[in-house]
Amino acid sequence: MLIKVRSASQASENEVTPRGLFLSRRSIMAGGAAALALGGTGVVPGPALAAPFQAPLTVSPKDPKMDAQTPMKSATSYNNFYEFGTDKTDPSENAGTLRTRPWEIAVDGDVGKPTTFGIEDLLSFPLEERVYRLRCVEGWSMVIPWVGFPLAELLKRVDPTGNAKYVAFQTLADRSQMPGLKYPVLQWPYVEGLRMDEAMHPLTILAVGMYGETLPNQNGAPVRLVVPWKYGFKSIKSIVRITLTQDQPPTSWNRSQPREYGFYSNVNPEVDHPRWSQATERRVGEFSRRKTLAFNGYGEEVASLYAGMDLRKNY
Ligand code: MTE
Repeated sequence: MLIKVRSASQASENEVTPRGLFLSRRSIMAGGAAALALGGTGVVPGPALAAPFQAPLTVSPKDPKMDAQTPMKSATSYNNFYEFGTDKTDPSENAGTLRTRPWEIAVDGDVGKPTTFGIEDLLSFPLEERVYRLRCVEGWSMVIPWVGFPLAELLKRVDPTGNAKYVAFQTLADRSQMPGLKYPVLQWPYVEGLRMDEAMHPLTILAVGMYGETLPNQNGAPVRLVVPWKYGFKSIKSIVRITLTQDQPPTSWNRSQPREYGFYSNVNPEVDHPRWSQATERRVGEFSRRKTLAFNGYGEEVASLYAGMDLRKNY
C-alpha cells in the first residue's frame, strides 16, 4: 500500500501517503474535477448506496468468540478501492458512478464448462451471513458480517480440469465509471490470485452483501472475494473474470512492489512488512492496538494448507 512510516515501531495507518505523492495526487484529482466540470468524462460522482437484502439468507448463530462488529458506518466510509481514489474516503465519495446492473462474471480457463454468471445467477446461490475479521496490511482491522457463498460452490459448477492449480481474479477496469483509473498507482485492471486449495477452502467466500444489505459500491459491489486469513488486499472487489490456470497468476500488489507483497499474503505477525511491524493492529473505531493473530485467527482451519512451506519466504 502507499504508506509512509517513520520507523517500524511507530507504524500507523494514519500516515497513509508520502506527502509529495499526496500533493501531486490532489492536484491531479483537482484537474480531474475540472475536466468533469467541463463535461470531459460525463461521470457524475454521487453517494454510493446499498439496499436491504432481498434474497433469502441463512444467518448463523453468533460465534461467542468473535469480537464486536465494526459499525457499518466505519466499514463503508473507510475503504481501499484505488479505482476510485487512494484516500480512505474516496471510495465512498466517488463509487456512486459504478454501474452494478447488469453485471457478469466470466469463469474460464482450465475448466470443462466455461460459464458466464449473471448477477442474478450469483444471487441464487444459497446465501449465508459470515462474520469475519478483515486485517489490512496497513495495520488496521475490522469485523464485518458478510453475506455470500463459498467460492467452491461456483468453481464446482464449471468443472475444473486436472490442470487447474490456481485461480486468477480480475476487477472491472472502465474509465467511464472508475475515476481512479486515470492514475497509474497500480497497473489496471486490479488482479489477484489464489492457489486452488485456498480457493476451494470453505472459509473463502464470494460476498454479495454486508450487514444484511447488498454490497455498497465502495466495498466492491456487486461481488467481491473475501479470504479472511489473508491480508485485505487479496479480497479483490467488483470481479468480472475468474480464470483457472496451471501457473501462478500475477497479483496487483506483488507486481507493484514484489519485495513488500508476496503471492500468499497470509496474515503473519512474525513476518514484518519491510517498512513496518505486523505484530499488532488497531480495530477501526478503537484507540489501543491489539496483537495480530497468526492467519488472522483462522489457523486452526487453514494452517494445514501450508504444511512444510517456509512462510517467511512465501510471505
Ligand atoms: N480490490 C480492488 N479492485 N481495488 C482495490 O484497491 N483494495 C484492497 C481490497 N480489494 C482493493 C481491492 C485492499 S488494500 C483492502 S484492505 C480491501 O479491499 C478493503 O476492503 P474494504 O474497503 O471493504 O474494507
